Amino acid sequence: MTAYEIKKDVHWVGAVDWDRRNFHGYSLSPKGTTYNAFLIKDQKNTLIDTVEDRFEGTLLCNISQVMEPSKVDYIVVNHVEPDHSGALPRLVEACKPEKIFCSVMGEKAIKEYYGAQDWPLQVVKTGESVSIGSRTLHFLETRMLHWPDSMMTYVAEDKLLVSSDAFGQNYASSERFADQVDQAELMRQVSRYYANIVLPYSSVTLKILEEVGKLKWDVDMIAPDHGLIWRGEGVGQVIEAYQRFALQKPVNRAVVFYDTMWRSTERMAHAIADGLFKGGTSVKVMSLKSDHHSDVMAEIFESGAVLVGSATHNNGVLPLVAAMMTYMKGLRPMNKVAAAFGSYGWSGEALKQVTEQLTAMHFDMVEGVRAKNRPTHDQLKSCVELGQTVAKTLQAKIAAS
Ligand code: FEO
Repeated sequence: MTAYEIKKDVHWVGAVDWDRRNFHGYSLSPKGTTYNAFLIKDQKNTLIDTVEDRFEGTLLCNISQVMEPSKVDYIVVNHVEPDHSGALPRLVEACKPEKIFCSVMGEKAIKEYYGAQDWPLQVVKTGESVSIGSRTLHFLETRMLHWPDSMMTYVAEDKLLVSSDAFGQNYASSERFADQVDQAELMRQVSRYYANIVLPYSSVTLKILEEVGKLKWDVDMIAPDHGLIWRGEGVGQVIEAYQRFALQKPVNRAVVFYDTMWRSTERMAHAIADGLFKGGTSVKVMSLKSDHHSDVMAEIFESGAVLVGSATHNNGVLPLVAAMMTYMKGLRPMNKVAAAFGSYGWSGEALKQVTEQLTAMHFDMVEGVRAKNRPTHDQLKSCVELGQTVAKTLQAKIAAS
């Protein structure tokens, strides 16, 4: 893609990664992604963020459409994760910048990643600002949203907030603005991104949203480092979505995910789903053999109840369930009703183990169901009842919240 002017003399010069399906090595990105970088023409020409090293040629090419790379005076590194800083060594060589602005943790990370002992790094802190001529850049450290080095840059005169990973989405497109694409698909990708990347830092997210409010920055455009740029009503829309995401209030939806050996646990999953639906709760059933853990996580995030099924295997849970539970635990979802279920042949430990793990996540637990070998008609009835009980518990929780 070519450089694109998003505001007068502010150019998107990033890269579109149409084929990226495995984001950061652990989460699927079915719509691809972009690495956004922004070049401001001013007395001190300033590049905010770079791209993954695979796209350093694209970045230099896009910068060249606006100015000679050697004319870039300043570089701002909002975040050192390699999808945004991978091109830095090549950029520093090509631009020979006077200064590279980063957070205190960013300085450490840049040195650790790139051995950059002689780069002109200048640490900036929350509340500090730098004049680049007719514009002033203001910095806000956003530690652990989502890395220790993360920060945002606000360009006051342009009412532009360059927000690093926050408010981003994995969404490759020829368009640059959020209002130019399908809104339902866009918001699915915003939610999916939050669920798989930002979720553990929800309390930090709330604090930072509060801090931005106190700063009274006038923002009419939010430019994240991935995906589409928010403008107009989209600015309020994505901030409101992040507030809702971070609070994780329960909603009347459930996800039933499971792994099965001889389809006994699968039968139980379907009976539980019937019970949930009968009880008035929308439900999605996901087999861990068919659905990637990041797809399941996106559904967990959008659900108020989580039901986890595993057959017992070698005195424990099946490997896909173990992996899913580890992944979910790390992302720290909150405010869920939960239950376990599963079949077993002789020892049957899986139900207890999954129940303990869900309890440790501080979910509101409903007693689970297990069945020996193949669930009987009565056991399947118990599964339907389990679904109904979870639906009732969830709806009571929603009413009380
Ligand atoms: Fe998009 Fe945290 O890197």
